[in-house]
Amino acid sequence: MDYEGYFRDQLDALMGEGNYRVFADLERHRGSFPRATRHGGEGTSEVTVWCSNDYLGMGQNPSVLAAMHEAIERCGAGAGGTRNISGTNHYHVLLERELADLHGKESALLFTSGYVSNWASLTTLASKLPGCVVLSDEMNHASMIEGIRHSRAERQIFKHNSPEDLDRRLSLIEPGRPKLVAFESVYSMDGDIAPIEELCDVADAHGAMTYLDEVHAVGLYGPRGGGIAEARGLMDRLTVIEGTLGKAFGVVGGYIAASTALCDFVRSFASGFIFTTALPPHVAAGAAASIRHLKTSQVERARHQENVRKVRARLDAIGIPYMPNPSHIVPVMVGDPVKCKWISDILLDSFGVYVQPINYPTVPKGTERLRITPSPLHTDADIDHLVSALENLWSRCALARAVA
Ligand SMILES: Cc1ncc(COP(=O)(O)O)c(C=O)c1O
Repeated sequence: MDYEGYFRDQLDALMGEGNYRVFADLERHRGSFPRATRHGGEGTSEVTVWCSNDYLGMGQNPSVLAAMHEAIERCGAGAGGTRNISGTNHYHVLLERELADLHGKESALLFTSGYVSNWASLTTLASKLPGCVVLSDEMNHASMIEGIRHSRAERQIFKHNSPEDLDRRLSLIEPGRPKLVAFESVYSMDGDIAPIEELCDVADAHGAMTYLDEVHAVGLYGPRGGGIAEARGLMDRLTVIEGTLGKAFGVVGGYIAASTALCDFVRSFASGFIFTTALPPHVAAGAAASIRHLKTSQVERARHQENVRKVRARLDAIGIPYMPNPSHIVPVMVGDPVKCKWISDILLDSFGVYVQPINYPTVPKGTERLRITPSPLHTDADIDHLVSALENLWSRCALARAVA
């Protein structure tokens, strides 16, 4: 077989569809989020990032950076092993306590990323519980889908955010079988939020466990940043709450929070937990500082929501369509992969505005979009500039349509 030829053909096909991914080569600047230097092309240029998942700019927060520096000075660079073999550092233990407290659970367990936490936890729970059936929301993230698939447990996909469909499906499963309902709170691409209470009511009525991915909500919602379940007073209704340290907390890593027995079970059986080097101690120290900060400070959350409102109001005023939702995500709908990339390229090259195009397979074909994530650190001048750049491009698109 011509392996190289095959790889090139597949990549050419992606390019032909407009779905080939080009990474922006950025150098973030400490202390001036959301600014970054972009490398490549004819040299470098300064850009304002409008699509970061460092939602609150905590990756630049002085208390987070100080904690990381201090931990590097004390412990050095890496953890030095898996959690079982010399890699458990006191910073990991402290962080797990901080996370358990954040979610009002007995325990928490750290993973190297949110992806790995979903994959490893769902694989382990669904494969080890004898005869387990997993009920998975149809819009669940790839990490959950892959974990469930890998478990080889029976899987049912319920209609997105539908307690009725969940109830119907659970009613058809033999009552004595273990059941696990897996869903997210904030769905990252459309920004809609699950009816957590109703889904928990249905799960409880059928004796099912619940697994909630709060990756796009932790740090951002709830009086202590515990996520949507905290904001709605529902944390005790969930069997497992899963989150990331890489988005609103600004560092990297993932976790589950649950009962001591469940965390110990995953700790003892999950290959994705056992057979990998632990997070560097300074990463754990930085994440713990970030969580501690957001447990008490409301400033970041308040200003974040205010900037989201401002961006939406300005888009409304100039008639740029975005998908309405109750969260902080502003999906500006384009509906065509080539046009989406074209708009994103011009925003970057001519206006210094960086919004990555979101194309298939991240979103379904025909729903390509610019996923804008305002942060508390964008200024009013940044918002003015973003909106006028988008207005300029939208009028160019309208002109092109009129001429065609
Ligand atoms: C819903 C959801 N869960 C899990 C993850 C994975 O988290 P991490 O980026 O920490 O691996 C993501 C990543 O974007 C996500 O959107």
